[in-house]
Amino acid sequence: MQKLTADSPAAKSADLVAANLATLRSLFPELLTETQDGPAVNLDVLKQLVGDRTVTDAEEKYGLHWHGKRRARQLALTPSTGTLRPCPEDSVEWATTKNLMIEGDNLEVLKLLQKSYAGKVKLIYIDPPYNTGKDFVYPDDFQDNIANYLRQTRQTDAGGVKTSSNTESSGRFHTDWLNMMYPRLKLARNLLREDGVIFVSIDDGEENNLKTVLDEVFGPENFVAQVVWEKMYTTKNDASLISTSHDYVLCYARQMSGSVIGLLPRTEEMNARYTNPDGDPRGAWKAIPLYADGERTNGRFKISSPSGRIHEPPANSHWRYAESDVLKLLSEDRIYFGRTGDSLPNQKLFLSEVRDGVKARTLWTHKEVGSNDTASRELKELLGVQDSPFSFPKPTTLIQRMIQLAAADKDSIILDFFSGSGTTAHAVFCRNAEDGAKRRVILVQLPELLDATDKEQVAAVDYCDKIGKPRTIAELTKERLRRAGAKIRAEWEAQQKAAAEQADLLNPAPAAGERRAPDVGFRVFKLASSNIREWDPQRDRLAESLEAAVDHLKTDRTEQDILYELLLKLGLDLCVPIETRPFAGHVVSSVGAGSLLVCLSPKIAAAEVETLALGIVAWHKELKPAGETTVVFRDSAFADDIAKTNLAAILQQHGLETVRSL
Ligand SMILES: C[S@@+](CC[C@H](N)C(=O)[O-])C[C@H]1O[C@@H](n2cnc3c(N)ncnc32)[C@H](O)[C@@H]1O
Repeated sequence: MQKLTADSPAAKSADLVAANLATLRSLFPELLTETQDGPAVNLDVLKQLVGDRTVTDAEEKYGLHWHGKRRARQLALTPSTGTLRPCPEDSVEWATTKNLMIEGDNLEVLKLLQKSYAGKVKLIYIDPPYNTGKDFVYPDDFQDNIANYLRQTRQTDAGGVKTSSNTESSGRFHTDWLNMMYPRLKLARNLLREDGVIFVSIDDGEENNLKTVLDEVFGPENFVAQVVWEKMYTTKNDASLISTSHDYVLCYARQMSGSVIGLLPRTEEMNARYTNPDGDPRGAWKAIPLYADGERTNGRFKISSPSGRIHEPPANSHWRYAESDVLKLLSEDRIYFGRTGDSLPNQKLFLSEVRDGVKARTLWTHKEVGSNDTASRELKELLGVQDSPFSFPKPTTLIQRMIQLAAADKDSIILDFFSGSGTTAHAVFCRNAEDGAKRRVILVQLPELLDATDKEQVAAVDYCDKIGKPRTIAELTKERLRRAGAKIRAEWEAQQKAAAEQADLLNPAPAAGERRAPDVGFRVFKLASSNIREWDPQRDRLAESLEAAVDHLKTDRTEQDILYELLLKLGLDLCVPIETRPFAGHVVSSVGAGSLLVCLSPKIAAAEVETLALGIVAWHKELKPAGETTVVFRDSAFADDIAKTNLAAILQQHGLETVRSL
């Protein structure tokens, strides 16, 4: 039985360096050479392959450079030593939901999500701190980011740090922000599907830096658009010079193609421009001029109207079609000469023949997608408060537009790793309720501590106190989701009821194929240090650490904690269905219909081994999983090595070859 330790690849988050090396090896096998420390890239071979001139380490190359960039890149490649602990008590509909709300620093969380969600996310929306000098910009720690996280969020006694904002006088103002953003964007890109898209909100402060970093991470060829969102429709007369009324939303594709961005639905207003003055049986139409500017040969023939009047295109213009095509249009009654049958001809464009959707523009007005005001009002109403506990939430309608454009697929995964008040999840709930889709959402939010002495945070502090929760932003996120979910579910049920009553009136037969209620639940997970104790003789005294290593799983962690760490490290979805059955008095969990069978009992007696093993074998036969099954036990559960070997032997005899212990 192979033992998984903190150093085993299966116990770690994704090793991105190894993945990059594997990609290089598959493209250019000769590029990799063996060294004492493992595989390495041979720079000389690289120069031969791509030409000397195209390999450079020169400082003066084009691009954005800042202090710490090399380290920031390295930070994205260092595996996480953390885990995500399940928190069903904070969740809604834990058993059935496929949505996730993860509390933690997003750098670590993005690393932990790599194995399970790489290449699976359709849409990422982020609204990071704009670096205004007032917002908190997370200081990563290259040495031990999990310990740093626990300190930053005061989850540890070790000193505790005063979280402070990144002020303009710090001397490293833009650098700090760039160092924070760069590794996160790199990790985010890995999570996107080939046809995935990222939208990032920003204002003038960091727009230029963000654009350059996104160009570097995604490639300028994958730039889709820089949207201007009209966040405010009033003028701030106390603005120093010009009142800023917009933010930007930068959009990049993982892999540019003609279909990464969809169309928007046509609006009532657009359709109202189509009428039917001549009672055409083909329905409403819109008149479009039959001529266009400029002279063109063959474009100046004569067209006669039903009244007998002869028309030629106006001066300096031409008919848009050749004469034969115009004759065809005339014969199909697709040319209109006005009510009198005498006016200049127009072509009839039928509503039934225009495309279902329209292209989005780069200007998104407050009327179309809401403003800062809309967002504040939305949040205050939902939470039932006078003062918004959140400074600048985004309106759900803004994010709904992104979903319409880039996550029309009914089973898309949508990720927001700077989720703030949770607007993105609310927007996903709304769209799903409207179109019956099963989009899933993953939110990540730092349990950023609220400061009762900061007057801008007083409303948030009061709200947390009112709901009896710790004073952190993540608590606001969860409460917003609970309330948004309940509201949307209630509205959906009322609608279904009304529709059913209507159907009853029209047709007393029962309505077939009732629509499933939208998934408005969410599973909460919290970032923590791994459940697997590190072998660390320096930290503890030697005798103590020897004793601790006997069971290298931390004693204050539950079986569920360990089970979900396994899912993460094996690359399974955190919402995969899990069933349990008892054998010989020990609970066995079947994950993903038998692809993983886990028993984390702390003690398995020698006499129980056979019953337990045969129970697992029988269940495995019943489940018939498609691929290979891994079976996992707790290493310290066995009385001795003989019991452990026996158990593995019985399982292996019955085809369960991959047996591991933790
Ligand atoms: C501008 S707000 C997002 C607002 C959000 N779009 C809304 O509509 O409510 C940015 C959020 O990112 C969070 N944040 C900052 N650094 C973070 C980090 N390292 N990990 C996770 N969240 C972080 C902050 O706590 C803040 O709530």
